[in-house]
Amino acid sequence: MDLSKIFIIFSLMVSFTSATSVIDFCVADFNFPVTPAGYPCRNPANLTVDDFVFSGLSVAGNTSNIFNVGVTAAFDLTFPALNGLGISLARLDIGVGGVVPIHSHRVSEVILMIEGTIIAGFIGSDNTAYYKTLNKGDIMIFPHTLLHFQVNVGDAPALAFVSLNSANPGFQFITTSIGANDLPTEIVQRITLFDAAQVRRVKRLFGGTN
Ligand SMILES: *[C@@H]1O[C@H](CO)[C@@H](O)[C@H](O)[C@H]1NC(C)=O
Ligand SMILES: *[C@@H]1O[C@H](CO)[C@@H](O)[C@H](O)[C@H]1NC(C)=O
Repeated sequence: MDLSKIFIIFSLMVSFTSATSVIDFCVADFNFPVTPAGYPCRNPANLTVDDFVFSGLSVAGNTSNIFNVGVTAAFDLTFPALNGLGISLARLDIGVGGVVPIHSHRVSEVILMIEGTIIAGFIGSDNTAYYKTLNKGDIMIFPHTLLHFQVNVGDAPALAFVSLNSANPGFQFITTSIGANDLPTEIVQRITLFDAAQVRRVKRLFGGTN
């Protein structure tokens, strides 16, 4: 990388990291790598209102998967105007019997129920479980980093929207992460207490090797 390019990236990062005090917004420029503070900014001179509108949440997500859930995200990569603003939104379509499997992320989440009936919950760091049946209009908080889940317990598909206080919340689904990696099965057994057949099953499901 030549020096002038390094300088451009550096100056974009400097202007970005003080985003809250000196500029109104910082629509992500994917020509540059992401930084701990997000992406550098696109030139405001060539933005239009359409850069601040995202219509992707108007359609139901695809629930044809083992969890019977469709998650449609308005995060920085899909909606670059969120970059640097510490906010994002996602749509959850949970089929009958479907779940959002247990997961965590770096930031807090609030869920707003639109249709259907779910049980939603999280597990505190002292292993206390907080869970409750939610119906249309209910909202619930999942505090930052804590493991949490949603289960459709109704007889119809459930629809909810979730908002998170980061443009890139960093989702980590436990079972998927355990199954999708290339750690040797024996190590996974030892660190999870799963038996070998269970480890091989989740590795098959989520594409892990070894
Ligand atoms: C808009 O800005 C980006 C840099 O942020 C640049 O790559 C692009 O060429 C610009 N487009 C126009 C039409 O000026
Ligand atoms: C939904 O996802 C499944 C599994 O990935 C895929 O086979 C199917 O084509 C998708 N359906 C639509 C409408 O995109």
